[in-house]
Amino acid sequence: MASEVTFRVQRFDPKTDREPRFKEYRVRNEPGMTVLDGLLQIKAETDPTLSFRRSCRSGICGSCAVRINGSSRPCCNAQINDNIVGGRLLVEPLANFDIIKDLVVNLDAFWGKIRQVHPWNESGEFRHTGKALMEVTADDLSEIRKTEGCIFCASCHSDCEALRSNRDFVGPAAIVRAYRFMHDPRDRLGNKRLDELKARTGIGVWLCAICGNCGESCPKLIPTNECIASFKNSWFSENKAPDGLKTTAENLEKMGRVYELDEFALRMREKLGLPPLTPNNAPKLEPILKKKGVAK
Ligand code: SF4
Ligand code: SF4
Ligand code: FES
Repeated sequence: MASEVTFRVQRFDPKTDREPRFKEYRVRNEPGMTVLDGLLQIKAETDPTLSFRRSCRSGICGSCAVRINGSSRPCCNAQINDNIVGGRLLVEPLANFDIIKDLVVNLDAFWGKIRQVHPWNESGEFRHTGKALMEVTADDLSEIRKTEGCIFCASCHSDCEALRSNRDFVGPAAIVRAYRFMHDPRDRLGNKRLDELKARTGIGVWLCAICGNCGESCPKLIPTNECIASFKNSWFSENKAPDGLKTTAENLEKMGRVYELDEFALRMREKLGLPPLTPNNAPKLEPILKKKGVAK
């Protein structure tokens, strides 16, 4: 049975507005309607000036992501009835981006970060066998498939706490992309993707606070935390951790977060017997890591 719901939608027109503002619309809510259906109804019947992106309406193209009640996701994948709070539903543009108009954001920075990690196979020599005919094993495929489903919706980028504090951070989607190619046996660049990035920006993956938001917002259930932790772990084994830990500690403090909440940090503390990580403590970690043979 149809009912009514109020959509509170953030509006911003750079030609006339100095700041974003909110406008409320009554939406006819029929069973099965998605948040995108509601926006399409507003545009068709109430306010043709409302701008938003959409294409497939099937959760495939990734273009319709917005923040619904503060959490980012493709809005064609979100039922209205699952998202009503106190008779209303709040719709805002993705965060960590500049707004072009209303719910449309400028994704250049997102695509720029994806490009930075060389999202293609750098082939030329084969890492596994060196044979002319490349063997891709079932294990290789299962690693690739973990991340292959990314639809580049940028929801993870929008909900990323580290990006909120520093937009130079590479961001979860680019890390996921790097992971995908790093585990492809036809690729020879591997981990160097993020090494190069760290050399250029001085940040790399260490700014991540393991807040877990990226995993929660991903509509494709990609294990983003696992991808990030795998890069951190590999740097531990390559003795590049001490600098990274300092970056992590400084950023966690800037964000007002407690290192003890960081799952990766807890594992490392347990494994290596590290003291609590704070920016002041970070230099003290180096001798401990050296003693444990983790750093040179
Ligand atoms: S876990 Fe790291 S990359 Fe993911 S949203 Fe949090 S800070 Fe960003
Ligand atoms: S990792 Fe998930 S949330 Fe991030 S861009 Fe890809 S599909 Fe979207
Ligand atoms: S319109 Fe394509 S994912 Fe929503």
